This record gives sequence, structure tokens and C-alpha cells, in this order.
Amino acid sequence: MDKIRVQGGKPLSGVVQVSGSKNAALPILCSSLLVHGESTFRNVPDLRDIGTTAKLLRHMGLIVTVAPPIVTIESSNVSSHEAPYDLVRQMRASVLVLGPLLARLGRARVSLPGGCAIGARPVDQHLKGLEAMGAVIDLDHGYINAHVPGGRLKGADIHFDMVTVTGTENLMCAAALAKGRTTLRNAAREPEVEELGRVLNKMGASVEGAGTDTIVIEGRADLHAVDHAIIADRIEAGTYMVAAAATGGNVLVEGVTLEHLTAVARKMRQAGVIVEREGRGVRVVGKPPFTPTDITTAPHPDFPTDMQAQFMVLMCAADGQSTVTEMIFENRFMHVSELNRMGAHIEVDGRTAKVHGPAKLEGASVMATDLRASASLVIAGLMAEGITEVLRVYHIDRGYEHIERKLAGLGATIERVPDHD
Ligand code: UD1
Repeated sequence: MDKIRVQGGKPLSGVVQVSGSKNAALPILCSSLLVHGESTFRNVPDLRDIGTTAKLLRHMGLIVTVAPPIVTIESSNVSSHEAPYDLVRQMRASVLVLGPLLARLGRARVSLPGGCAIGARPVDQHLKGLEAMGAVIDLDHGYINAHVPGGRLKGADIHFDMVTVTGTENLMCAAALAKGRTTLRNAAREPEVEELGRVLNKMGASVEGAGTDTIVIEGRADLHAVDHAIIADRIEAGTYMVAAAATGGNVLVEGVTLEHLTAVARKMRQAGVIVEREGRGVRVVGKPPFTPTDITTAPHPDFPTDMQAQFMVLMCAADGQSTVTEMIFENRFMHVSELNRMGAHIEVDGRTAKVHGPAKLEGASVMATDLRASASLVIAGLMAEGITEVLRVYHIDRGYEHIERKLAGLGATIERVPDHD
């Protein structure tokens, strides 16, 4: 397994290009199960999760060609309705095939994702919504077994008990081929949900309100293949924005839509970082020490949980105490103990972490068990004195395209090395 070795202490400078959005690409690739014909998706990031999704769709009989940044999917023939445990356990978002499979075939057998490192992450809202649309669901031997008596889902009025991103996306796909109108209330408003709505409409669906908390979908009898370029990854962009600021750097993060990062930009500015729109991107200039700044994660458009770990590292370079409150996932502070090993002073009490700055970070061997936590450790390594090794890089590879190449392009001393331990 590879590790990333970083020699810290250098301010980042230059231009970094943001890749396509992972969290938009995953539901969009799965939505190709809804159509007949060959779809072409552009600006798809070169990531492990995309490879896992391709495997999953191939398992269902689709012909998938991955040549990043282009993925083509021929989906005239869907021969299996099963998402096996072996693939689902590699990527929780595999559950995104459930809605499309039920809509296309009237049946689906999808392994339950189970818990993951950052929390229990149940899928009860997905199942409740599909049942309201006429699916009969039972759970056996770790699988979700679903079928639709009569073969076609029917529109329903569905109110989510909590905001769920993939839950909203699953039901949007299911509703696109259902009979009649579906209304999704308390829907997730993330830009990736809005992007899925755009793609479904290109496929010939009728989706209104994606990006707001009420989405209305008129079901269609069939949908057609599309050619679509995926939006930029706001979380990847936000990660480079924080890395630039935290190292006292000056970086143009190119290709990102600043409106997708309003809450992050607001908090960075509050901390004293310069964040300005420039051409097709965002200019970030940071000069530590920063002003202590509190954040609380919440569904979009509030502060994203996927930027929490990175922002916490930035606050290690603030002059005073900041609090970071995690309201989406119950166990998303695994990076704290590793940051403390690097010299940070962070105390966790339930859902809140108190970050006492400024801390003088020192290089160390560290390891994280989730994607964004791993990215935060790379940022800490860039800030620290000496050498940091971030182990279990496969977490980073799930969500950051060529992270070491992009950071090296900004002047960081960073390399990927095989870990034989
Ligand atoms: C998506 C993102 C992930 C991000 C998260 C929150 C993708 C592929 N992943 O994950 O990067 O961190 O949104 O912004 O887009 N919940 C339930 N029951 C359900 C569904 C969710 O209780 O049926 C809870 C979850 O346990 C969690 C919260 O709702 O506490 C939000 O989860 P959700 O929005 O569903 O996250 P994901 O869609 O899995």
C-alpha cells in the first residue's frame, strides 16, 4: 500500500486545476441505468470510486469504458439486478443503484452498505421513499431485496425525516421513470443534487426544483442517453483553498464555482484569509496566524461536513481557541488524535472539538480511516516542520485525483512511495 511523504514548511503558490466532482459523478453514472443507448460523461475524475462504480455497472450488464476524463456507458441491456456485497463494501455510494434498478427492472437486490468509519449511516430514508412509491422491500442476509408488484413504481409525496444527499438522488432517479408525479420534500440542496437534476432533464425527464428543498418529478415512460460534462469538485477545490491558506501561500484554484463554496469562503474570510473570484477560479492568499473561527457542519448551503477536517487543521494556525461542531456524522473526528500526535492541541467533547492555536506542528507518521481526514493530514504535513508520512493512501485515492502531482505543481515537496511495512 502506498504512502504519501511530505516535507513541510513551504508556502504553496501557483495554479491548480480542479477535477470533476466525485459526488456528482457517482449518481450520474448510476443514472445511466435508466436509459437505453450510449451515454458519454465528460470531466469525470480519475478516482478509485469511479472504477468501483464502473465495476458495479458492468456487473449489471452495462458496457462501461473508463478513459478519464471520459466515461461512456452503453446501457441498452441490463442483465442483472444485483449489487453484490464485495463491491458495495468498497464504496457505500453503491446504494445509488437501488433507485435506478427498481425503476428500470422493477426489482433490485443490493447489499446493505453497513456502517463505515465515520458513523452508522443507515439507508432507512431511501427505503421508506421507495416503499411509498410502491416497492415491497425486505432485508435478508445483509441484502436489500426489493420488487415492484406490477413492475412500475408510482409517483408519491415523500417527506424526508432528515436531509440525505444520496437518499434524495436515489429517489429522483426512481421517480424519473415512475408513473405520475413525485414530490420530494426536505430534499438535499447540494450542488451535486442540482447537477443530477440537470442530467435527468437532459435524458428527457421532468425534474423541477433540484437544488431547493422541494423537488417535483413527473415520471416518463422512457429516457434517452446523454452527453454531459460534470461540474467541478467543490470539496477538492475547498481542500486546495485551505492548503494554500494554511501554508501561508498564494494560489489560484481554477475551475471551481465559488457559489458552491459560499459557507467555506465566508469562514475562511472570517479567519482572515483572502478569498477572491479571479477569472474562472478563486484566488486564495493566507498569512498565519489566523483569527480563531468557529464552524458547525450542516446540510448545504451551510458548512459541509466534507470540509470539516481540513478547516480544523487551518484553525491549528489560528491565534486562540476555535470550536468545530460536527452535526452530520457522529464519529467524524478520527483525524484529531493524529493531529495531536503532530503537536496540535485539540480536545473533543461529544460533537464538538476545541482547537487551541497556534500550534507548532511537527512531521510524523500518521494514518486516517476516511477520505477527508486523510486530506487534512496531508495539509497538516504541508504546514509542519520536517517530514510527515500519511499512510493508507487508498482513502485519498478514493476522492482526490493525483493529489501529490497537483500539490507538487504548487511547489510542495511531496511524493508517493510504496509502503512495504
Ligand atoms: C453524501 C456524500 C458525502 C457527504 C454526505 C453529507 C456522496 C456520494 N456522499 O453522503 O460525501 O459527507 O453526503 O453531506 O454524495 N441518514 C439516515 N438515514 C438515511 C440516510 C441518511 O439516518 O436513510 C443520516 C446519515 O446517517 C447522516 C445524515 O443522514 O447522519 C446525512 O447523510 P447523507 O446525506 O445520506 O450522506 P450520504 O448521502 O451517504
